[in-house]
Amino acid sequence: MSDPMDELRPPTRLMLTPGPSCVSPRVYRAMSAPLVGHVDPWFTEFMSGVQELLRRVFQTGNHMTFPISASGSGGIETAVVNLLEPGDEAIVCVNGTFSDRMAEVAERTGAKIHRVPAPFGRAVDPEDVRRAGQGRKIKFVGLAHGETSTGVLSNLGSFRMVADELGALLVVDSVATLVGVPVEVDRQRIDICFSGTQKAISAPPGMSPITVNARVEDSLRNRKTKIQSWYFDLTTVMDYWGKGRAYHHTPPISLIYALHEALRMVLEEGLEASWERHRQNQVALIAGLEAMGISIFVRNPADRLTTVTAVNIPNGIDGAKVRSRLLNDYNIEVAGGLGELKTKIWRVGLMGYSSQRGNVLLLLGALERILLDMGMKLSPGAGLAAAANTFANVEPVPAGLEK
Ligand SMILES: Cc1ncc(COP(=O)(O)O)c(C=O)c1O
Repeated sequence: MSDPMDELRPPTRLMLTPGPSCVSPRVYRAMSAPLVGHVDPWFTEFMSGVQELLRRVFQTGNHMTFPISASGSGGIETAVVNLLEPGDEAIVCVNGTFSDRMAEVAERTGAKIHRVPAPFGRAVDPEDVRRAGQGRKIKFVGLAHGETSTGVLSNLGSFRMVADELGALLVVDSVATLVGVPVEVDRQRIDICFSGTQKAISAPPGMSPITVNARVEDSLRNRKTKIQSWYFDLTTVMDYWGKGRAYHHTPPISLIYALHEALRMVLEEGLEASWERHRQNQVALIAGLEAMGISIFVRNPADRLTTVTAVNIPNGIDGAKVRSRLLNDYNIEVAGGLGELKTKIWRVGLMGYSSQRGNVLLLLGALERILLDMGMKLSPGAGLAAAANTFANVEPVPAGLEK
């Protein structure tokens, strides 16, 4: 845009990033519906529907379930500042940028935070968490279920077990997993679970759905000090999202419309079908990349996050140049690594509306052309063939997305 008075005309990109994902035309249509006031009786009734759909997606009966008016980082902040008081102790499993962010937010509360690290590309070992908590009064164990910076999935069951042994709550960042990977809040006994709208839910960025159980509600009632954040104080935000519907702050009404439509799409497809679609598309992507001689950063397939694949940039290839050619020549956006992985990996998101078979093939085809142009030795067509073969050998999931 050269003249600030020019009409808004963003390019139409295929976003295969760790977020935001592309959104369906249905979601765009929902966002253009007429605004109403945030305490309009029609809207306050509509809010109940959104909360009910969120409960179905989180698979919970938790009363305190609603979208926070903030991006995924607001979810981190809400979970952490509502639980911690100065002098408390908590454990945060740190295996990448986003779990590190949880630790950083927690440290700012004046609580003592025990960081339990794992090398990038691996999940934290629950045994290390057990050791770190032994003999201490730990308020919560927190982790990123999907660590988007490295493409690693953690096994929630083993952390729940350790948290139980320590008498601690379990706080789960499901920003990169909800809808793409099984997250079952009640069955897995997650005490606070939050997500983001811009990933597998496939609504625009800007909201963080959260759900909080009765144990956390008790802990809020028993606090000795005021929650340090006014904006993220669950006890007062619930004056609006709870029964009273009393003003707390003005929520992003159009984003809530979009979230509602995106959740309807998720539930029309079905959670299990969605998890399977995400799994199949990642398996095909990896088969294609490996056939091109490109390896995956997370070595152990069981540790791979199906929504975000961290890909090792082949030796001698300038990763940033590849990304800029994908964008400029093909309108495809993929992400680079964060921090020390900046020049070492690409991160490919296949989430929500972006997670479609055709997109896997498009990316592989474009990548092959670019890498051949850059002089990489690879066998033309091998990547596409491997991905297409993978698709041919699995039962296709219903294509609920193409509407
Ligand atoms: C696992 C995880 N947690 C938290 C965040 C932060 O979300 P946001 O950028 O929407 O604030 C992200 C963003 O990518 C994420 O992947």
